[in-house]
Amino acid sequence: MRSFLLFLAGTLIATLLAADDGCPVNCKCSQANVKCHGYSSMPQQFRSFSIIKVFDMSNNNLTSLSKSDLEKYVNVERLHLDGNSIANIKKGTFSSLTRLNEINISTNKLESIEDGVFCNMTSLTTLILSNNHISNLSLDVFHNVPNLQRLDLSLNRIYSFSSCSLILPSLRYLNLDNNSLAMVPSHIFNCTPHLQTLRLNLNRIQRLQKYSFSNVPNIYSVSLDNNLIRILDIETFQVKHQDLNTLLECKIKVFSIEGNFLTEVPMALNDLVYVVHLDISNNNIRTIKTLAFDRLKCLRYLRISEMPLLSKVGVDAFGGLNLRDIFMTRNPMLKELPGNLLQNMDELRTVVLNNNGLVTLPKSLCNWQQIMDVMLNDNNFICSCSNSWLQSYRGWDTRQTQQHVKKLKCHRPNNPEDFLIKDYDFSRHYCMKFGSSVSDKSQVRVELIAAIIMLLTLSVILFVCYRKQLVFWCRQFKCKHHVDSTITKKPKYSHLSRNGDLN
Ligand SMILES: *[C@@H]1O[C@H](CO)[C@@H](O)[C@H](O)[C@H]1NC(C)=O
Ligand SMILES: *[C@@H]1O[C@H](CO)[C@@H](O)[C@H](O)[C@H]1NC(C)=O
Ligand SMILES: *[C@@H]1O[C@H](CO)[C@@H](O)[C@H](O)[C@H]1NC(C)=O
Ligand SMILES: *[C@@H]1O[C@H](CO)[C@@H](O)[C@H](O)[C@H]1NC(C)=O
Ligand SMILES: *[C@@H]1O[C@H](CO)[C@@H](O)[C@H](O)[C@H]1NC(C)=O
Repeated sequence: MRSFLLFLAGTLIATLLAADDGCPVNCKCSQANVKCHGYSSMPQQFRSFSIIKVFDMSNNNLTSLSKSDLEKYVNVERLHLDGNSIANIKKGTFSSLTRLNEINISTNKLESIEDGVFCNMTSLTTLILSNNHISNLSLDVFHNVPNLQRLDLSLNRIYSFSSCSLILPSLRYLNLDNNSLAMVPSHIFNCTPHLQTLRLNLNRIQRLQKYSFSNVPNIYSVSLDNNLIRILDIETFQVKHQDLNTLLECKIKVFSIEGNFLTEVPMALNDLVYVVHLDISNNNIRTIKTLAFDRLKCLRYLRISEMPLLSKVGVDAFGGLNLRDIFMTRNPMLKELPGNLLQNMDELRTVVLNNNGLVTLPKSLCNWQQIMDVMLNDNNFICSCSNSWLQSYRGWDTRQTQQHVKKLKCHRPNNPEDFLIKDYDFSRHYCMKFGSSVSDKSQVRVELIAAIIMLLTLSVILFVCYRKQLVFWCRQFKCKHHVDSTITKKPKYSHLSRNGDLN
């Protein structure tokens, strides 16, 4: 009974305190955090505005914002305005909110950013303007926003950037995914000298200018997925030193150009000498040529997947690389890989080759003992001697790889029936005659030498046994030849003289 009374008193006090807080209807206030819903303008009924630090007005019905809407929220640090219908933000709207460091205005109806809206916001570090209707923009609207680090303009309709003159000295991250850009906006990079991450996926970019990244010496990650790029100029990634006329090395470490229209591995990629992570998947490349990436000494992760036309990987195509993870999957035309392709890579751990059209797999592809993750399933393996090593090989490094290989299947030529390689009877193909793999190059060489030695031995034996007979035959042949030649010479002249050519 007493505890019930205590509980009642407690609830009463709590309710009174909450009312005392002055939290408006349809808002939840807990200490410095406020979240409201159902509002079509900013609520103004707080007793104390100054305690609010995180103000969540996402998914309300705001349509415009002006200075008087926000000027009392002087201590707000994070403002969520995403999911409204804001089409219009007046100049100076945020000018009283000197502590504001993050604004999310994603998913609204902004068509442009008026000059002066984001001026003098010296604490602002993150600004999200994604999923609006912005079509053109000048970075100069961010006048005196010295600490802005992340700017997200993805999912807009930006087709052009006006050139800029003001510097955003802290900008590290610029997201322009899903816009309508036809060019990499290199001309704005002189305003973003510390840019590290640039996202340009899902635009309409057809080409990149020469020396595109010269003004962003710290650039780290660039993604250009799902654009319309067919070729990359040889100078694309060359970096010009601003004062001297020398070339510097490009610092990009993560580069992705998936889902474009490249028809070959661009030579320009070899200028990405610091690249660690490279994805060229889903292009129209047919052939990976010998030494296609040989200058990329830092490359650890390479993805070449979803290539509808890729049918040939040249001998030593990955020469010079020291990969850690290779992903080549869903390349239906890829029927074979050259031996030794992934040899001499002492850090190689992951080899993912599933869902290709591979008919055989060379044992010499890589040093299988060091591989921790392997995927070879859903290829087109034939039950032939060249794949029989998959049955007898015992050097798999991890339980995962052992289990995986046990499930691999093969089929006989012109026969769709699948057999588990681990159970298949390879002896019917006489694979074991000369060792396990007939297609193994060194094996073939050994066999050839053996054959030559046998042939030589046989001829020596023949010579020793039938020496006399041979000498006799030889003499007879010589005589015959001598007689023949004396006979054949004569008609030549007679033939000529008969025609009267010589006389
Ligand atoms: C906000 O808009 C939704 C639909 O968009 C509507 O159902 C709701 O009544 C509106 N609320 C206010 C307070 O206007
Ligand atoms: C910004 O708002 C969008 C839309 O509601 C949301 O998806 C996103 O996670 C938000 N971003 C941040 C950093 O809060
Ligand atoms: C930004 O600050 C400068 C100097 O304090 C001032 O002159 C200018 O009017 C401010 N701009 C805006 C849009 O508030
Ligand atoms: C770009 O946007 C500004 C408003 O921000 C507008 O005045 C200008 O006409 C636009 N330019 C183009 C080429 O659309
Ligand atoms: C890109 O944006 C358009 C509309 O702006 C949208 O329909 C589409 O789903 C977006 N694509 C992706 C992959 O986000």
